[in-house]
Amino acid sequence: MKLIKTSTYEELSQMAAAQIISKIHANPSLKLGLATGSTPTGVYKRLIQDHGENKTTYKQVNTFNLDEYIEISKKDPNSYHYFMCENLFDHIDIPLEQTHIPDGTAKDLEEECKRYEQFIQDHGGIDLQILGIGQNGHIGFNEPGTSFSSRTHIINLSESTRKANSRFFKSLEDVPRQAITMGIASIMASKEIFLLVSGASKAEALARLVNGEVSESFPATVLNSHKNVTIFADKEASALLP
Ligand code: F6R
Repeated sequence: MKLIKTSTYEELSQMAAAQIISKIHANPSLKLGLATGSTPTGVYKRLIQDHGENKTTYKQVNTFNLDEYIEISKKDPNSYHYFMCENLFDHIDIPLEQTHIPDGTAKDLEEECKRYEQFIQDHGGIDLQILGIGQNGHIGFNEPGTSFSSRTHIINLSESTRKANSRFFKSLEDVPRQAITMGIASIMASKEIFLLVSGASKAEALARLVNGEVSESFPATVLNSHKNVTIFADKEASALLP
């Protein structure tokens, strides 16, 4: 794993965005895996800014999001469909039909998981996956205890994840209890991974990932066994590293 320490969140976002942009220039039909949450929004802002200023085009890019809540309509401001349109898709020239997110409102959710997994494979897999990390070590919504051999599946969200994400909802009660997420094996199949880690609340998780043993009880530790991972971490997040 390569670790890039930055002094600020802005620098982290700038550096990760610059690398993503150069990969799109090198391969205009890049298959890009995306995450939601607070951490990648700075990167998305810079991709939008660069698209405006330098005309980097996404006309041939396909995106694949990690996860989506179950039973939240795509139009709901708390859905990840809505989040991605607001934070990225509506501001670049990517055709919406080339943006892919699991459908948490599908009638047959098990079937939807299978379809999404197969769909990614039919596209030849993900070239570059952007990840954030939960304080409990989750990647995607793969909570502690999720099998490293898991593919896209339905997950029961842990109370700590629901609490952490309740900041986006009116109350904790409104936070969904389940989500569809790419599995750990689906994530590990990506050719390259960028993990973005920002803020003091992630310092323990990052230290455990970098120093710790590889264990399903802390899902992100699986990244130690991937050949091409770059971690971008700001000063606060790196505070507990040696
Ligand atoms: C989001 C996702 C999650 C987040 C993680 C960190 O699609 O899969 O794993 O990356 O919960 O979220 P933030 O960035 O809000 O701290």
